[in-house]
Amino acid sequence: MKVQGIVRVGSLLAVATFAVVTAAAVTQDAAPPLARVAAKANPTQTNLRVLPKDTSAQDVYKIMAGMQRDLGVQCGFCHEQDPDTKQIDYVSDENPRKETARFMMRMTNDINTKYLGQLGDRQYAQPITCGNCHLGQMHPSPFDPTSGR
Ligand code: HEC
Ligand code: HEC
Repeated sequence: MKVQGIVRVGSLLAVATFAVVTAAAVTQDAAPPLARVAAKANPTQTNLRVLPKDTSAQDVYKIMAGMQRDLGVQCGFCHEQDPDTKQIDYVSDENPRKETARFMMRMTNDINTKYLGQLGDRQYAQPITCGNCHLGQMHPSPFDPTSGR
């Protein structure tokens, strides 16, 4: 993709904390069986533009499992999936939701580092995750103050 150069410059600063944030989120409850997921997925990361290039396969799966759970979706929601064979191409950027997800990853990281991280008297140390907005849904619902949440 042509935008890669531009994207990389901005993202490198932000990524280190991102990995930490999502890893913490994953440990909150049992992640999906990572070994099974890992076995199905491409073992080498060749198209990482937000996460550091040297992120281990294990960490990529943890982060993916966290995002999957935070949005309540399957891997194929963001990744290109063959409709017949159901085979997923994790490296491909064909599925436009993957790019939206990259945007969301940067946005979430910026909220944590550029905004919440600057709050001098911050009381709640938890970094925000995809789940803070998505609440297990692919589209965050509008807030309804009468719903009692
Ligand atoms: C919310 C969208 C989303 C979901 C759900 C998701 N992924 Fe991803 N995945 C991404 C994005 C975005 C990237 C690229 C990250 C980057 O550029 O640093 C990626 C990258 C990957 C990679 C690295 C591919 C490479 O070599 O470049 C693998 C492997 C992967 N995902 C596996 C999975 C698995 C397995 C699941 C289901 C458990 C999953 N993903 C669910 C968005 C998603
Ligand atoms: C600050 C709130 C917020 C956070 C944090 C957030 N999102 Fe989102 N997300 C939204 C909103 C709002 C939309 C709907 C955007 C629109 O109007 O299209 C959205 C849409 C999306 C979509 C598009 C869904 C579709 O149907 O195409 C994806 C994918 C997504 N988010 C992934 C993520 C991931 C992955 C993370 C964590 C790395 C994340 N989001 C964190 C608010 C958030």
